Amino acid sequence: MKPLHALAMPTLGVALLCLPLAAGAQETDPDTGLVKAEGWETVRNNCTACHSAKLVTQNSGSRNHWQYLIRWMQDTQGLWEFQAETEATILDYLAEHYGPKEGARRPPLPRTLMPDNPYPTVADSG
Ligand code: HEC
Repeated sequence: MKPLHALAMPTLGVALLCLPLAAGAQETDPDTGLVKAEGWETVRNNCTACHSAKLVTQNSGSRNHWQYLIRWMQDTQGLWEFQAETEATILDYLAEHYGPKEGARRPPLPRTLMPDNPYPTVADSG
């Protein structure tokens, strides 16, 4: 008779493979970690020559923020100019998959938990 784990292991393997899909996670490229979605290869080809793709995947921001970073790299770090179409593909991809983080900051403390304000306020001077 076969030991039980000989049957259990393949089943477990299949279950684990299905997990990311079940969780709604997006498929990422194993080499770069970039989300595999429209435009990802353009980003890989243009954004991993000088630094790790991690620098890209660890950052987040609006389309404007990404454009600002690209301009900064073009002005100061030797990043090449893009054709308008290529830049749009890159910015669309980044804004969509590495957009502004929501809820990255905790909400502000309620007034009652704050220490007294030591400075004069408009209400005092009235
Ligand atoms: C020609 C070289 C070059 C290319 C190509 C390049 N970068 Fe950079 N990038 C840099 C350098 C240099 C830095 C600064 C690295 C450091 O601070 O150590 C940087 C930094 C960054 C940072 C971090 C900025 C910060 O606030 O610290 C991000 C995000 C980034 N790059 C994204 C991109 C993206 C997206 C692309 C593709 C459009 C790209 N890079 C292509 C040179 C490049």
